[in-house]
Amino acid sequence: MTLDPLLSPARFEWGCATSAFQIEGASTVDGKVPSIWDSFCAQPGRILDASDGSVACDHYHRLAEDVQLIANLGFKHYRFSIAWTRITRQDNSLNPAGLDFYKRLLDALEKHQITPNATLFHWDLPAHLEGGWLNRDTAYRFAEYADLVARHLGDRLPRVATLNEPWCSAFLGHDLGVFAPGVQDRAQSLVAAHHLMLAHGLGLQAWRAVRTDTSLGIVLNPELSDPASSRPEDVQAARLAELERNDCFLNPLFGREWPQELLQQIDALNATRKEGDLAICAQPMDFMGLNYYTRTIAQAPAGGRDVERGYAFVTPTAPKPLTDIGWEIYPEGLTRVVQNLLHQWPLPALWITENGAADNTGVTDGAVNDTMRCDYLQTHLEQVAGLIRNGADIRGYYVWSLLDNFEWAQGYSQRFGIVHVDFQTQKRTPKRSALMLQRLLQA
Ligand code: FCB
Repeated sequence: MTLDPLLSPARFEWGCATSAFQIEGASTVDGKVPSIWDSFCAQPGRILDASDGSVACDHYHRLAEDVQLIANLGFKHYRFSIAWTRITRQDNSLNPAGLDFYKRLLDALEKHQITPNATLFHWDLPAHLEGGWLNRDTAYRFAEYADLVARHLGDRLPRVATLNEPWCSAFLGHDLGVFAPGVQDRAQSLVAAHHLMLAHGLGLQAWRAVRTDTSLGIVLNPELSDPASSRPEDVQAARLAELERNDCFLNPLFGREWPQELLQQIDALNATRKEGDLAICAQPMDFMGLNYYTRTIAQAPAGGRDVERGYAFVTPTAPKPLTDIGWEIYPEGLTRVVQNLLHQWPLPALWITENGAADNTGVTDGAVNDTMRCDYLQTHLEQVAGLIRNGADIRGYYVWSLLDNFEWAQGYSQRFGIVHVDFQTQKRTPKRSALMLQRLLQA
C-alpha cells in the first residue's frame, strides 16, 4: 500500500486511540473509585467472558513501555481518555494520586514528542453519582470534573473532547441495556441523552472559564442506516435509527430542537428539560471527532420493544464480508455518513477519531498476520482521502486501537489492537497492521 499524498503525515494528523477503562486496569489503585463499568462487570451474565477491567492491559503500570511503542510505530498523536474515577474522590474533590498518573503519561508523551488528544468521558461514570445520567445533577458534576482537569492538566492538553459516543452511554446503557448501567427503558434513554448533551455544554463552559487556548469538541459515532427493502415501513425504520443516533446529538450541538418523531416518544424529557438547556448544549466547538466502523440495515419493527424504538436491526450474516465481531465491512459507508452529516449540519473541522476492525488472528511464530485488518484499514483510508479530495475538512485519522483491550460487553473476546496483547503475560506484539502503518508513516 502507498499513502495518498493527501494523508501524508506532513499535513495530516496520524494517531492511535485507546480509552482508560479498556486498557488501564489498576481499578482499585491510588484512590480510584469504582465506575459503573466496574459494577456492571461484577453482575453475572453482563460480560461475554465474565471478565472485567481490573487488570486489562495493565497500562497503568506499563505506560512508559506503551508510549515507547507508540513512538516506535511512528505515531505523532495519541488519543486516550482520562478516568473521572481517578481524578475525583467520592466527595468529588481532587484525587492527587490519580492526577499524577496522567501527569506521568503526559511527561512520557512529551519526551517522545507525541501530541496528546484527550477525551474526558469514555463511559466510565463514577458509580457513586446517584442516578447516573438519569439525574440532571450528573451534568453539573461533569462540569466540575472538567474544571478540575482544565486547572490541573489543561496547559498540557492542546485538544480535548468532552464525551465519547454519547449514543452508547444513552441507548446501549439505558434502552438496549447491554452496556452499563444495563437499564432497559426507552424513555430513560432519551432522558440520559439529554443530560449527556447538557454535560457536554456545561463542560465546555467550565473549561473555557479556565482556559481559552484549548481546541474543544466532542466525539460522536454517527449512523448510516440503510433500509432492508424499499417498503415505506423499512425506509421509515432506517430514518428513525438515524434520527436517534444522529439528530438526537447533533441537533442540540447546533441549537436545534429534536425532531418531532423523537419528541413524541417521550414525555419524561419535558420533565427534565429546562428553558435555556438548548443554548447550553450549543456551545461553539473547534472540532468534531467521528468514529466509524460499519453501517446498519434497519427494518420495520415486528414486535416487542422494537416497536417503541420504531426500528429493528437486521443482523448481517456471511457471505457479506464481516469482521470477527460480526460487523459488516463497508468502507463506502464512511464517505456516505460524512457527506450526509456535512449536508445537514454546519460541522467544524473533522477528525476520524476511531476506525478499525476486530480481527482475532493470534500469534504464530512470533508474528500476527492480521491481513483482514490490513485490508480494512487500507480501504477505509482510501475513503478518507477521497472525502478530503472532494472538499471535506478532515484533519486527522486515529486507528482503533493501539492495543487489544477490554472490549466492553464482549470482554477480551474481540481484538481490535494493531498490537497484540497476551493477557497472561502482558507481552505486546506489533501485528502486521502495525508494521504496515509504521512503514506508511516513515515513507
Ligand atoms: C467504539 C468505542 C471504543 C471501542 C470500539 C470498538 O464504539 O468508542 O471504545 O469499543 O467501539
